[in-house]
Amino acid sequence: MIKTIATTPYTDQKMGTAGLRRKSKVVTQPNYIENFMQSIFNVIGELKGKTFVVGGDGRYYNDVAIQKIIKMAAANGISRLIIGQNGFISTPAGSNIILKNKADGGFILSASHNPGGINGDFGIKYSNHTGGQIPSSISDKIYQETLKIKEYKICDVADIDLSKLGRQEVCGMQIDVIDPVKDYVEMMEGIFDFAAIKALFAKGFTMRFDAMNAVTGPYALKIFEEILGAPKGSVVNYKPLPDFGGLHPDPNMVYAKELVNFMFSDKAADFGAANDGDGDRNMILGKKFFVTPSDSLAILTDHFNLIPAYKNGIYGVAKSAATSTAVEKVAKAHNIGYYEVPTGWKYFVNLMDSKRITFCGEESFGTGSSHIREKDGIWAVLFWLNIIAATGKSVEEITTEFWQKYGRSYYVRFDFEGVDTEVADKMMADLEAKLPSLAGQTFEGFKVSEAGAFVYNDPVDHSSTKNGLIVRFTDGSRIVYRLSGTGSSGATIRVYLERYSKDDLKNDPLKMLTEIFKIAMSISEIPERTGKHQADVVT
Ligand code: G1P
Ligand code: ZN
Repeated sequence: MIKTIATTPYTDQKMGTAGLRRKSKVVTQPNYIENFMQSIFNVIGELKGKTFVVGGDGRYYNDVAIQKIIKMAAANGISRLIIGQNGFISTPAGSNIILKNKADGGFILSASHNPGGINGDFGIKYSNHTGGQIPSSISDKIYQETLKIKEYKICDVADIDLSKLGRQEVCGMQIDVIDPVKDYVEMMEGIFDFAAIKALFAKGFTMRFDAMNAVTGPYALKIFEEILGAPKGSVVNYKPLPDFGGLHPDPNMVYAKELVNFMFSDKAADFGAANDGDGDRNMILGKKFFVTPSDSLAILTDHFNLIPAYKNGIYGVAKSAATSTAVEKVAKAHNIGYYEVPTGWKYFVNLMDSKRITFCGEESFGTGSSHIREKDGIWAVLFWLNIIAATGKSVEEITTEFWQKYGRSYYVRFDFEGVDTEVADKMMADLEAKLPSLAGQTFEGFKVSEAGAFVYNDPVDHSSTKNGLIVRFTDGSRIVYRLSGTGSSGATIRVYLERYSKDDLKNDPLKMLTEIFKIAMSISEIPERTGKHQADVVT
């Protein structure tokens, strides 16, 4: 039943910040998935005896791609697949399933927070035995393989029924269809004080969790409503839909509009949160109050001792370079390790595996810990609920007290989308060449202390990665420039701005960053070069 089918390469199968991400219309071309998967299998080499985890966020084409992957895995000699029921597994749950079963890796079918549907995006994230996504050294090899692929192997059988739990066999390969929620819930119960959070809800505390019609709906219903006793209706948009019901499941102030409007209305719940398509991102809101992801990472780290799993101490904390430096002050205060890495969760994996860090996070609404090797949306929400239950304070009180203690890092990200790739590349190259000469110069009253490319030297595998450009000012303010690595067409220029204040704690971030924004535009010449005088998305 095993067939070898001839194919010709696609030249665009290079993985980005988090796996392969393309327009659905690109991925649905003949043999597109087959070429990519066969290239991965070829690079892995020996597949006999190996186990992989497969699932996705339920977006358009998941069902088709998953059948292809199963049949190809069997044809290539993989011994066992662990698959989420009906093909569903969130990214964090997938990482846990890999680790718990000591699997050799896994494939999560998702384009994360990008819109889904035939006109949206599709993607595949490939993790190895660490439970985290593969390093660039391996994805580079896979890309080389995609450029010369000539054939792929597939088992010619009828589609496999993934609706029933249990074991079955396909072309000599064992398949275990599992409940994707169960293990995840057990893991969360082992980390947080569920009794305290339950008592909080029993006292009348209210929350709204927006699953944005994506994969976390079933996880959130089970944990927040069923187990912890949040009032029925606390979890909204909980049914995963192939096109996310038209929503853009990116949990931020722009795309999680429904939740934001509710939380800033007079009917607001005590606590609000949203996750993204595959459940690894989170947004945290209080009553008429927004917590930036950079602050959230810093606040969680500062309160580690309130959480049962971390109360005996944490190793350290890491953030992506683009994330605000708020957490650096917390790391200093607690005298724990502190690391800055390139953008992308895979850069945290070595630090976690080598016990250098316990917590990590990114400004892009990602927070997590070494319980798994991916960021974890529901984990972050439970962490906040646990802090609220333990302190009896509101989200706003917790955040304000944090600023009083450490000062506030005002932070905003500006995205310039749909820029011509050549224009964006040239802008970055020219800026990189110019930055060193800016040191010592003063713009709008801000003096540049140093400027140049951000280069990360991994302390574990000694690889070196260049990611983005940073301009630092003497008062602690910073500008970071990067090109996105997750887009499915054109280039997105990201400009991250930060300004620190010890005592001006209740100001408007955009106002605080007016001058820094002006400087960021003038030195990069973004308006002149792209024709864009305003960012497309401000978060
Ligand atoms: C974006 C975020 C980054 C995150 C990644 C995957 O990547 O900025 O922090 O790790 O999505 O969720 P980018 O498009 O900036 O390369
Ligand atoms: Zn995601």
